[in-house]
Amino acid sequence: MELRKINNEDAKAQWEYTTALPEDENGLTNPYNGVTYDEYTEKVLPTLISYEHPVNMPDWFVPETYYYLWDEEKLVGEFRIRHHLTEALRNGAGHIGYSIKRDERGKGYGTAGLELTIAEAKKIIPEDEIYLRVNKDNIASQKVMMNNGAYRAGEDEDHYFMRIKKSVGGIK
Ligand SMILES: CC(C)(COP(=O)(O)OP(=O)(O)OC[C@H]1O[C@@H](n2cnc3c(N)ncnc32)[C@H](O)[C@@H]1OP(=O)(O)O)[C@@H](O)C(=O)NCCC(=O)NCCS
Repeated sequence: MELRKINNEDAKAQWEYTTALPEDENGLTNPYNGVTYDEYTEKVLPTLISYEHPVNMPDWFVPETYYYLWDEEKLVGEFRIRHHLTEALRNGAGHIGYSIKRDERGKGYGTAGLELTIAEAKKIIPEDEIYLRVNKDNIASQKVMMNNGAYRAGEDEDHYFMRIKKSVGGIK
């Protein structure tokens, strides 16, 4: 299994994933549901790649890198890392967002993919802890986080705010 950064060579598989990903599933948002392959290659893909080194973006925009989880030659999920926290991210979505392809869920990919993503995040983010947020009713994602050493640092009405210490992050 490997995490590959978003790229032009994997456009077809990345598009298939992106166009099928719901607009909002448990707080993981995707404005590109239903996008055509031409739209993806001409607009969406260059935009998503540019997020790692944003140009002409508003001040609040934090650099974000997209990765895809591959098992052999099969793309099974998407993981995004926001490079540092702002007040909005600290009290909101945190550093990492992810999803696994519907028909590949429950096979351990979420847990394994987050482990690989944490390894990347440790190289990028300056904070001592990795911040994550999860809906209270999203048991699968809570398990994915706990499997990777997350603890519950707080909550609001609908979410738990989870953190993983960079010193301990990784599968137990
Ligand atoms: C959350 C998500 C990433 C989990 O991915 P996954 O590949 O199914 O995760 P895993 O296979 O590693 O399973 C993790 C744990 O959740 C459990 N699980 C999986 N699906 C479950 C479900 N529908 N209900 C309850 N538990 C579930 C697994 O049994 C496993 O338990 P274990 O750790 O005790 O063995 C995936 O369901 C998904 O993409 N959901 C939609 C988007 C989303 O919610 N993203 C996260 C936002 S915070």
